[in-house]
Amino acid sequence: MKAKTNISLKSYNTFGIDVCCSTFIEIKNPIELAKILRNNEDPFMVLGGGSNILLTDDYHGLIIKNSIKGFDVIEENSTHVWLKIGAGEVWHDVVMKAIENDWGGIENLSLIPGTMGAAPMQNIGAYGIEIKSIFHSLEALNVNTQKTRTFNSEECKFGYRESIFKHEAKGKYIITYVTLKLTKVNHSINIAYGAIKDTLIEREIDSPTIKDVSDAVISIRQSKLPDPREIGNAGSFFKNPTISKEDYDQLKSQFDNIPGYLVGTTQVKVPAGWLIEQCGWKGYVKGNIGVHKNQALVLVNYGGGKGSELKSLSEEIQQSVKNRFGIELSTEVNIV
Ligand code: EPU
Repeated sequence: MKAKTNISLKSYNTFGIDVCCSTFIEIKNPIELAKILRNNEDPFMVLGGGSNILLTDDYHGLIIKNSIKGFDVIEENSTHVWLKIGAGEVWHDVVMKAIENDWGGIENLSLIPGTMGAAPMQNIGAYGIEIKSIFHSLEALNVNTQKTRTFNSEECKFGYRESIFKHEAKGKYIITYVTLKLTKVNHSINIAYGAIKDTLIEREIDSPTIKDVSDAVISIRQSKLPDPREIGNAGSFFKNPTISKEDYDQLKSQFDNIPGYLVGTTQVKVPAGWLIEQCGWKGYVKGNIGVHKNQALVLVNYGGGKGSELKSLSEEIQQSVKNRFGIELSTEVNIV
């Protein structure tokens, strides 16, 4: 645990934005973390995989890179296993290890970038599953008292890409461990999502295993989403907006083919990717940045782009969607 000064954060954020921080320190366990917090007086920020962040300027403060490792079965019975995982573990590696052991529940979340600790913060989700559905509890260090607090699922207040850690607990806790409850038998395979079903049919798989589902998700993601190691990006830049059914019906009368998914009985979720594509942004390139050619929800840095340029582009996109459809897009990515 050695502090470095004035280092570039380029390799610590998946957008690949080249800004500096005043101090950078990597912690490997909660004891090191507590010690840093006790002695630190500067502004600070915790980084996991840096896959959901847009850095718009140098960071004048301390960056704490959470590298707490661990992957331990802490309890099991004949049907389930309780896995305690260090916040610094790479999420996709966790999914792969679960599949190797034939533990089910997270296969639909294959290939999502980021770390274990970041996953519950925004209740990561894809292809019909959110982490909420297999989440048991997490441990987090209180930034002021350095005491550990355990949060159960209810206390995390999970919502669509939301949790208490983006609201009232924001900046107050640092997640150190997460416990997931996975199935050992009778996996509840979820292939309701059209693209998964289609891939399995193409592969002539009638009764898919969790490995088959994971493989299908990986190939779908690889075909639509850019690999951050090749093109800088942070996955979906915006959230899919939810509007009232009345507003949706009104839009439907104007835009016949607008997609929408009913949420409850009065709300409709509209894919932001469709709205952005309709405004002509898909595949847009401006200098070193742009909008991905296969998925309009994803902003990209082709190399050398600035965070401030991506922020401006995101605002232009928000404005054009607002002008055309009257819908406000909110960002999923944290802009710092
Ligand atoms: N669509 C378009 N044009 C586009 C993109 C999407 O028209 O350029 C429309 C299509 O109608 C498509 C629909 O949007 O059928 C849904 O698209 P997709 O299946 O790609 O999913 P999404 O709603 O765009 C969400 C998540 C993704 C997640 C996928 C799959 C959000 C903000 N994004 O995207 O999550 O992988 O569903 O479940 O909810 C992420 O959070 O970083 C992320 C990639």
